[in-house]
Amino acid sequence: MNPWFETVAEAQRRAKKRLPKSVYGALIAGSERGQTIEENQQAFTELGFAPHAAGPIGDRDQSTTVLGQQLSMPVMISPTGVQAVHPDGEVAVARAAAARGIAMGLSSFASKPIEEVIAANPSTFFQLYWCGSKDEIAQRMERAEAAGAVGLILTLDWSFSHGRDWGSPVIPEKLDLRAMVRFAPQTIIKPRWLSTYLKSGRIPDLTAPNMVIGDGAAPGFFGAYGEWMGTPAPDWDDVRWICEQWKGPVMLKGVMRVDDALCAVDSGVAAISVSNHGGNNLDGTPAAIRALPVVADAVGSQIDVVLDGGIRRGSDVVKAVALGARAVMIGRAYLWGLAANGQAGVENVLDILRGGIDSALLGLRKTSVLELDRSDLVVPEGFERALGIPARPVDLPVRPVSEAGVSG
Ligand SMILES: Cc1cc2nc3c(=O)[nH]c(=O)nc-3n(C[C@H](O)[C@H](O)[C@H](O)COP(=O)(O)O)c2cc1C
Repeated sequence: MNPWFETVAEAQRRAKKRLPKSVYGALIAGSERGQTIEENQQAFTELGFAPHAAGPIGDRDQSTTVLGQQLSMPVMISPTGVQAVHPDGEVAVARAAAARGIAMGLSSFASKPIEEVIAANPSTFFQLYWCGSKDEIAQRMERAEAAGAVGLILTLDWSFSHGRDWGSPVIPEKLDLRAMVRFAPQTIIKPRWLSTYLKSGRIPDLTAPNMVIGDGAAPGFFGAYGEWMGTPAPDWDDVRWICEQWKGPVMLKGVMRVDDALCAVDSGVAAISVSNHGGNNLDGTPAAIRALPVVADAVGSQIDVVLDGGIRRGSDVVKAVALGARAVMIGRAYLWGLAANGQAGVENVLDILRGGIDSALLGLRKTSVLELDRSDLVVPEGFERALGIPARPVDLPVRPVSEAGVSG
């Protein structure tokens, strides 16, 4: 079979064919009834384009910057947790991102140490969860800083919602002999996935090496997850504390509301990602793309705004940029590519997105992604979701009652 694929949908089909059922299920993720995961993609289909019949068709420039990082197109790798998708895991993804000139986001729960990932792509952001004591959190940040991470992605949107109507994948605590025997019926019928691992001489790694404290051993994914569950949720002072501790820029990932976006600006973050965690968090949250326009308007140019959730093609990227995002982050799209064909599969996905962005720019007669705006789209009435609009815009001075012409 030709390893090249022409769409992200085809990469997903190949991932499904290639991966053991439980590994594929872990990538699908989602929560509860799967409403938000569906909505994230569906909402993009409601947005149309307003193309021109004629106009400039010269070179089209996709480059932009996010948090000072130069990107060859408005796409970044969103951090995703420990995945037994491919033996090279996050290192393969980082190499692909570097080869295509984009930044990498590395999860706290990744299967590869940050030092290896940064060696593969110096433009790497480390993603942090609020997990453990402040001292432990500070130690993880220090390690990421020493390794050369260019920024921090702080992910706070999580509600530990585990039930899925279609059934959650069974994932072993660690891959010992007992687990291998138990999972043999699943893996034996997936010879290509198995042979990639056999050739690498490794077994799927279910540890989280970036969660190590001091000289301790890397905790297993479930150990790290348990610690996270047991940590009291942070407040805005904690976000401010993170921004003070970290010497570089911080992105807060998982913002859906205007009031949260304004608090984020206030707390010192340099960017937000309008995101509902790819539909894996609180089911029933609207699609991230619906919340984007009003959040982007509210923060203006004070910070960088990116979007993640539901991006499967270049035209989705263009729609998000036209609605106010500087760039998007992708999750499942690159995971499907990684599963389908390792590093080359991730590069294949990035090339699909680049090609789609280029076609949309051509149709819209734009010479740069920086020229995109809402007039390029057909946005149906009622598309947007304005969540958390403060009763009174926070930065407007409050006029005394007499001045406002209200008499008692
Ligand atoms: C399997 C899986 C694991 C994820 N793990 C993390 C994680 O460790 N940290 C994080 O901030 N987001 C995580 N996410 C969320 C992604 O970073 C991103 O927000 C989401 O995948 C975007 O939606 P998309 O998959 O439709 O592109 C994960 C998503 C998936 C699908």
